[in-house]
Amino acid sequence: MSLAARDKNVIWHPFTQHQSTSFPVPITSASGAYLIDEKGYRYLDLISSWWVNLHGHGHPIIAKAIYEQAMQLEHVIFAGFTHEPAIRLAEELIKILPNGFGKIFYSDNGSTAVEIALKLAYQYWKNLGESQRKRFIAFKSGYHGDTFGAMAVGKQSGFFSAFEDLLFHVDTFAYPAIWLNDPMQLQKEDLVLIEISQFLEKYGHETAAMIIEPLVQGAGGMQMCSTRFLKNLETLVRSYGVLIVYDEVMTGFCRTGDYFACLKSQTTPDIICMAKGITGGFLPLAVTACQDFIYKSFLGETFVNAFAHGHSYTANPLGCAAALASLALLQQTETQHQIKMIEKVHSEELSKLYNSDVINALRYCGTIAAFNLVMTTNYGSDRSNHLKEKFHQRGLIIRPLGQVIYMLPPYCVTEDELRNAYVIVMEELEGVKA
Ligand SMILES: Cc1ncc(COP(=O)(O)O)c(C=O)c1O
Repeated sequence: MSLAARDKNVIWHPFTQHQSTSFPVPITSASGAYLIDEKGYRYLDLISSWWVNLHGHGHPIIAKAIYEQAMQLEHVIFAGFTHEPAIRLAEELIKILPNGFGKIFYSDNGSTAVEIALKLAYQYWKNLGESQRKRFIAFKSGYHGDTFGAMAVGKQSGFFSAFEDLLFHVDTFAYPAIWLNDPMQLQKEDLVLIEISQFLEKYGHETAAMIIEPLVQGAGGMQMCSTRFLKNLETLVRSYGVLIVYDEVMTGFCRTGDYFACLKSQTTPDIICMAKGITGGFLPLAVTACQDFIYKSFLGETFVNAFAHGHSYTANPLGCAAALASLALLQQTETQHQIKMIEKVHSEELSKLYNSDVINALRYCGTIAAFNLVMTTNYGSDRSNHLKEKFHQRGLIIRPLGQVIYMLPPYCVTEDELRNAYVIVMEELEGVKA
């Protein structure tokens, strides 16, 4: 029996309507920017395997770091015990985070990093005796993961209608969603700021925190905002004492060009969530980093103030070793050149497509490029699946997000590979129109 048929017998895949989806593609190996299937076909991984891969698949330096760590210490409970990889990774991350970030809390994935951020923000105010601060601000079409808190702040992502009745109340505002040469940019951004300002005037004293995907909203359709917007938002929200949480699960580790979107935008949140690219795409690991003043509010004579949260695999040493190796690779000059090259290719290739009649809303931020299809297509629709298969047949892994086509390649992609991908994508999109 083929791998695909065996899979069909026993596997339930994430974000998949099994009745209408064709067999998954069995991948048997991977190397650099390519995934290779059982027949030996190679696919350029333009989505970095759900945005986790940074340096290419099977990178020998990360693989070796994991192997060596496994031979030394594979895992230990992280309450009451510690280990060098977790300490060193925290030290390294703190070096590249904005000033004031003094503590790193580990978990396993983006959703848990967000749960922790929300719980920290909520309990912070309780610990200070301001338990009236219960409200959270989030953004429409924001996506922060699939656990309950993360679903609540991402309730308008369009994925969670089945659970709506169970989600706690969150106040949501439009994300500016700007694109290149967008004549409405200032109006869009200022309108959002005005609405948030009016809300805060009324409810600022009851609001615990605001969570945002800075610069780029991922699963909500690679929607973008400017650094100007983030700066103004920061000033506004701070003036009401509300905590700022940056969900950098996707934007972290140079996806937007700088190590973190907060650095690129020169804004300083109070809490930052990281996951996905942290291990270079090898192992599940996540971090919720917080400012010292938040940590201090959890100190006290009894356990009541403490943060009662932890996962079995918190700070897994293999994950930490992978993350350290990945971070060292990220800091190499060659990797930084590659990141700049990707941004340049996005900019140049998109500029050739301004007059296309099949796509619009062209945008990029660092290594992430996106545009909208003029024709309507929904997430997981037949049309969207058809497009996905067309791209597969042409050797590209691209997963449309509804009407949005995006490219977010591993940093080892070559200039020719990326430029050629643009040609193929446009040929296929023109073909669908014809
Ligand atoms: C911005 C953002 N936050 C959180 C998550 C959830 O991460 P995970 O899938 O690792 O739980 C995602 C996943 O796509 C994300 O894009």
